[in-house]
Amino acid sequence: MSSELVVLPGRTERRRNRRPGAPGTARSGRTSHTSPDQGPPGRPPADLEQTPLDRTGLDRARLRHDRPVRLPASRGPVSEALLELLDTDPDHETPGRAGAHPAGPDQDRLQWSGPAVAAPTDDDLQLALWLSYELGYRGLAGVDEGWEHHPVLLAARRGWERVLLDGLELLTVDRLGPADPEPTAEQVVAALETLAGTERGPSLSGHLMRQATVRQFSEFLVHRSLYHLKEADPHTWGIPRLSGAVKAAMITIQLDEYGLGEVRAMHAQLFRDLMRDWQLDDRYGGYVDEVPAVTLLASNVISLFGLHRRWRGALTGHLALFEMTSSTPNARYARGHRRLGGGPRAAAFFDEHVVADAVHEQIAAHRLAGGLARTEPELGAQIVFGARTVALVDDLFAEHVLGAWGTGRSSLRRRLVEGRS
Ligand SMILES: [Fe+2]
Ligand SMILES: [Fe+2]
Repeated sequence: MSSELVVLPGRTERRRNRRPGAPGTARSGRTSHTSPDQGPPGRPPADLEQTPLDRTGLDRARLRHDRPVRLPASRGPVSEALLELLDTDPDHETPGRAGAHPAGPDQDRLQWSGPAVAAPTDDDLQLALWLSYELGYRGLAGVDEGWEHHPVLLAARRGWERVLLDGLELLTVDRLGPADPEPTAEQVVAALETLAGTERGPSLSGHLMRQATVRQFSEFLVHRSLYHLKEADPHTWGIPRLSGAVKAAMITIQLDEYGLGEVRAMHAQLFRDLMRDWQLDDRYGGYVDEVPAVTLLASNVISLFGLHRRWRGALTGHLALFEMTSSTPNARYARGHRRLGGGPRAAAFFDEHVVADAVHEQIAAHRLAGGLARTEPELGAQIVFGARTVALVDDLFAEHVLGAWGTGRSSLRRRLVEGRS
């Protein structure tokens, strides 16, 4: 492979030939935002997992326990009020105003008042939702875990979820047309196959395969890190809500997502390896301040569906279309990764999805989505709605990213810059 000059913001960088199988050797410096508390390049972070599974002792730095997410900056009055609330004691016992937490902000400040159609792409709302959901994943640094199911927080989140669901319904109808209100199981499967087989708008995966620069590919990975470092977790909320053959189908898919219990093969771990190969910050939630609302939306939609039993149909449809639309784009991402000099081992994240999801898509369409529609026919329309949200979010994301790149802008809220010191 010949050397290639790439220009990253503030620097000129010569990419050098890579030693096959050596993650992280492509770039001489790190590409990250200028977060003040990150360690110097090349020094393993302090919170690395030292695990007996890692028998060779050579790659321990790759395996890491996730820490609670550092709190991001607010993006408007609602996320600001939420951050104020989370800074208080959830078990404060002094009676307060009706419905409000006595030590927290006025309950009114936790209400988002924009139009439903704007909800999916509103930074303030999406950050507030994301923070409220992260309490149920790895937690938030410095925030009392008692907030996870606190009635004040849940009441506020209920309002955010309602307006988001209204917005998703409006936008899916606007962009994808009306949906059948009472589809049969066969019609559910057919609707998902149509969604999966329809190309809409410009192709982000095609751009990444053929044209993207190193910086653009890095930005793509930064966006995706918000989901892929917890890959599969939001859909896993669905397992206890399902039973019988449909539950078995979901578990069959999720088992592969979790590497059959082998930490190195977990898809989240494969993505972590990929980030390290691209010299990116691989900490869970490390780029939350950088990503726009539409990136947070991608995670929030699954969390919303996953955390409510009554949305199990939408969750199932979401997972089904996720799996049905994964194999082809990942093959393109893999080609883009290799074209730009990405490491062979790191390509495993993409390659694994090309192979596994070619199998998963059949299970997802027929045993999962079709199976649920047969056993609970009243969920048919909801299954399709969940699938339609995948198409909507994919389209919104591609439009945002390609729109920014097409005019020479970063797709992130802050440009990636070289070096962490
Ligand atoms: Fe996966
Ligand atoms: Fe999959």
